Amino acid sequence: MAEPFARAFRLAPVDGSIWSLTLDLPGEKVNKLNRVVMTELGDLLPELERRGKTGEIGALIFRSGKKDQFIAGADITLIQAAKTAEDATSLAQQGQRLLNAWEDLPFPTVAAVQGPCLGGGCEWALASSAIVMADDSATRIGLPEVMLGVIPGMGGCVRLPRKVGLVQGLDFILSSKTLSGEKALRAGWVEAVLTAQQFESQVLAWVKKNLASLQAGRRLAREPKLGGAGGPVGNILEHTAMGRAVILRKAREGVLAKTAGRYPAPLEVIEVLRDTAAAYSADKVRGEDRDEALSREARGFGRCASTEVSKNLIRLFFLTEAVKKKTGLEGISSEAGQRPKEDAPRSSETRVSSGDIIRQAGVLGAGVMGGGIAQLFADRAISVRMKDLNTEALAVGVQAASRLWQKQMKRKRLTVRGFQQRLNLIAPTLTDDGFQSCDLVIEAIVEKMDVKKSVIRSLEKVVRPDCVIATNTSSLSVSQMQEGMQDPSRFVGMHFFNPVHRMPLVEVIRGKQSSDRAVAAVFALAKRIGKTPVVVQDSPGFLVNRLLAPYLNEAMYLLSEGAGISDLDSVLLEFGMPMGPVELIDEVGIDVGEKVAHVLFEAFGARMQPCPMTSAIVKSGRLGKKNGKGFYLYSDGGKSKSPDPEVESLMGPSGDKDPGRVSRQDMLDRCLLPMINEASRALSERVVGTAGEVDLGMIMGMGFPPFRGGLLRYADELGAREVVKRLRDFASRVSVRFEPSQALLEMAEAGKGFYSEFSESSE
Ligand code: NAI
Repeated sequence: MAEPFARAFRLAPVDGSIWSLTLDLPGEKVNKLNRVVMTELGDLLPELERRGKTGEIGALIFRSGKKDQFIAGADITLIQAAKTAEDATSLAQQGQRLLNAWEDLPFPTVAAVQGPCLGGGCEWALASSAIVMADDSATRIGLPEVMLGVIPGMGGCVRLPRKVGLVQGLDFILSSKTLSGEKALRAGWVEAVLTAQQFESQVLAWVKKNLASLQAGRRLAREPKLGGAGGPVGNILEHTAMGRAVILRKAREGVLAKTAGRYPAPLEVIEVLRDTAAAYSADKVRGEDRDEALSREARGFGRCASTEVSKNLIRLFFLTEAVKKKTGLEGISSEAGQRPKEDAPRSSETRVSSGDIIRQAGVLGAGVMGGGIAQLFADRAISVRMKDLNTEALAVGVQAASRLWQKQMKRKRLTVRGFQQRLNLIAPTLTDDGFQSCDLVIEAIVEKMDVKKSVIRSLEKVVRPDCVIATNTSSLSVSQMQEGMQDPSRFVGMHFFNPVHRMPLVEVIRGKQSSDRAVAAVFALAKRIGKTPVVVQDSPGFLVNRLLAPYLNEAMYLLSEGAGISDLDSVLLEFGMPMGPVELIDEVGIDVGEKVAHVLFEAFGARMQPCPMTSAIVKSGRLGKKNGKGFYLYSDGGKSKSPDPEVESLMGPSGDKDPGRVSRQDMLDRCLLPMINEASRALSERVVGTAGEVDLGMIMGMGFPPFRGGLLRYADELGAREVVKRLRDFASRVSVRFEPSQALLEMAEAGKGFYSEFSESSE
């Protein structure tokens, strides 16, 4: 008979002395280690121990009561709530004590993992005598704590390397990789992978078969046999102190090269693994060794959790999680009063907004963006018809997609069969054949209003009446494109960023006549293909380009005043941007940047006045990376770059220049503050609804450094008063384009920040 132990746990006999403990957190979709679970586990452990000592329980299977969900991790709000390093250390220690007691139970425990087993959930599994995993795609195991700016703090840093060796343990923790059962088995992380169908009975059979070994505490042979002995796939170096030192030094160098030391967590992982090496190189860690190692880990966790970097990464995590729950119809659409009367039948709306309906897509244009979008669709099992004007253009698009998959094959992330399946999903075409069966068509043709309008009008005659039509325009008005359409409600902007496969943001642009149905369909599709959608109003530059333009424009002004190209880039790189603004404009195309600057100048006037130097550079034939010549010179197909001494002569009258005139702080402020200023305007115009959306957009769309939490977190850290003060200073010293916005002035006056002024209650 099942014995309900507590609210989250269920303890029940299964077969003889084999019992099961089921975790099923009430009222939640997933299991997480929150206060309820931890408290109840604390109450449960003495009871388990008692039943073990009497011989009643001889082995315990630990499972989840939620379908396809094991444990998603620790409750992150607990980490967020820890105010000081001491608070966070003691939080980790509470968890460690529970898992130690679990590890010390007088009978073997087997974690039966089906569904994600991450973070704290994985640390719990690691404290068990054995882990068995289901062989389905939803089942993954991993320690992704570093992504949240912390380290595994409930024994993961100690127990994982003990199981898989130092080299692999470091790799798994530093990379936040999650592994399938098969890979985890190969790594020695888990003891067996079992068929997902009838997983429970498979697990029971496995436990019965291995009961004697489990009870004797013997190491188990891994199943299925992989050839060679079980146990960690050791690297020969890690068996000596000197070897370990080399491994750790290399890891540190690798982390520093990638992060320039801005993220404390990966460095702390390395330090913890160094200091606890003795503990995990022993076969079993018990008693003082274990206590010492875990207390070192808890201190490291405390240190990281109390940093601003971790707080920012956790906020970012919550922002992206919030998007997953949205439909695209919240916030600005209703408040801005932009919602048109619904014209679509309700049933079709629900079907479309579920996001599952888009099985067939069409892409017009096989260029940089069209080819990238088609690749992405096919990669996510959506079949695509890709149309262009001639076979050469089509070939370029197909080859671009094919190259990306070939890279994945090289890295063993894709099989030859998977490659062929994906490639077969892209049907290149010069005609409209097959577009009748498309659920959505996105156009990515030349950026010209009249061409786009006429192409969209002809397309409407070909596709089904319920087909959603989207534009990937980067600067033209979606509402204007809707004019003259038979059914403008089906039309919406879906703005991808370049390169499509890498940039996570999609701006979903609501035109004046776009229906909820079209917006929801595109929003859901963006999520389904792994992107982060943000709904923005149809306003010049939308969100990201509107903010990016003053940033790049100011970089041009700085160069024209004598700032050095590499100096300027290095200032922003040091701030944490993935590339400097000068390199970025080369990447975007100086001509493209110039065009966008003019569009925004027309829309917003003096504060967006383009720097005259830019057109002189374009006229000299320097377009950027695409023609090998911009502010930098590119060679080796764009792989290497060096400053171009000749470009200096085009950057302004040499008499005017004084490299020392602009300080590094001024360079930084002059690039960043105009973006903050513009963001305050975009928010007051409700281009997006919240400060969080601006931050998501800038992190995902331009690579603003995540550790800073976003542009507006940075602004809030400076404080509106300080931002206004610095802007005014530049307005008097440099140009009126720095005049602070009304919104900023009011925030400064009221002592408010972006997050207190422009936030949803859920944030
Ligand atoms: P592209 O010049 O690389 O490709 C455009 C393709 O469209 C060409 O292959 C052309 O032959 C084809 N095309 C022209 N008229 C056509 C028609 N009537 N039917 C079918 N195909 C036609 O241009 P790119 O860079 O891919 O840009 C496409 C769109 O995406 C533009 O609206 C652009 O503003 C937007 N965009 C571009 C980004 C970028 O970084 N390149 C970023 C985000 C949006």
